[in-house]
Formats: sequence, C-alpha cells, structure tokens
Amino acid sequence: MTDPSTTAERVRVWDPFVRFFHWSLAVAVLIAFLTGDELEDLHVAVGYFIMGLLAARLVWGVIGPRHARWWNFVRGPTAVKAYAWEVLRGHPKRYLGHNPTGGAMAVLLILGLILTTLTGLATQSAHAWKDVHEFLAYATLALVPLHLIGVAVASFQHKENLVRGMIDGYKRP
Ligand code: HEM
Repeated sequence: MTDPSTTAERVRVWDPFVRFFHWSLAVAVLIAFLTGDELEDLHVAVGYFIMGLLAARLVWGVIGPRHARWWNFVRGPTAVKAYAWEVLRGHPKRYLGHNPTGGAMAVLLILGLILTTLTGLATQSAHAWKDVHEFLAYATLALVPLHLIGVAVASFQHKENLVRGMIDGYKRP
C-alpha cells in the first residue's frame, strides 16, 4: 500500500509505531540506566515498559508494513560482512529501510534488550541473576555508540539525514 503523502520527493519508510517504538525505547533505556542503582521501583517499571515495547516490536516485525518486517532487513552473516566491506570502501548500496549492517545492529540491540529485561525479571525473584543482568545491560549499552556511529556514517555516505527519517518517517525515494 502506498502512503497517500508519498511524492516524487519523499517516500514514507518508517511507520508511526516503529518511530514511537524507537524514541520511547531510547528514552526508556536511558531512564533504566540512570535508575539502576537507586530508584528501584522506577527502574522495574521502566523495565516492564521496555519489555512491552520489545514484545510489540517482535509482533510488528511479522504483521507490520514492509520496512518494519524482519524479512525485509534481517540478513545472514555473509551479507552483513559483504555490506560492511562496501561501507569501508566508501560506496555502499543505498537501502530505503535498514541496510544489512543497520539491520544486524537492530537485531543485536533488540536481542540484547530482551535478554537484559528477562534477566532483570529473574533478578527480582533470585538475586543471583543480578550480575548476569548487569553484564547484559552494559554489553547492550556498549552497542549504542556503535549504533550512533553507524547512523552517522550512513547519513554521511548517502547524504541524507537518517535521524530525521526516524522522526518524520520519510526518506527520499
Ligand atoms: C539519540 C540517540 C539515537 C539516535 C539518533 C538513533 C537513530 C536511529 C536511526 C536513524 C535509526 C534508523 C536507521 C536506518 O535508517 O536504517 C535507528 C534504528 C534503531 N535504533 Fe536508534 N538511535 C538512538 C538511540 C537508540 C537507542 C538508545 C536504542 C536502544 C538501546 C536504539 C535502538 C534502535 C533500534 C532497535 C533500531 C531499529 C528500529 C526498528 O526497526 O524498529 N536507538 N536509530
């Protein structure tokens, strides 16, 4: 289905749910990080919110529009490595949705957050999980700067503002 506001200059790529998911996830992860050691009630509440977001995104990846779907952007390791080389050589192919490395990063972030929230839940009933939960939280957080570098590099190489795309949903065709 073509969005009625799609024109020759711009095409709708990210639907409202993906944009809501992304920015509320980014804010929620920040709050969860800041409240980890104190403010446990808020930390746990935000953890549940993140779990809800992730569950909804998993389903949206099956029933959502084209660019939100898993099979539209999840590629195997060979394709991801090949695309990473294209990026390093400076002339990567442009994708409207996530490119193969961006898709891999999306999967790693989502997987990292699923494991982090599940072990957070486990920590509530058995304290022994706490170290695993913290390790996974920091490992996932360590991906965020790489994610931001990826977004910056792709924006630069294709001369387009991917951040604005994730805000208003549009990219050039
Ligand atoms: C200011 C900080 C951030 C900016 C500017 C940003 C920017 C973006 C952009 C532009 C995309 C789309 C890339 C594309 O066009 O292919 C994206 C995707 C994504 N980002 Fe971020 N991001 C930020 C923080 C975060 C954080 C903190 C997380 C999670 C810990 C995160 C997780 C994701 C995920 C999972 C996707 C894939 C979205 C989907 O398909 O549902 N981002 N981000």
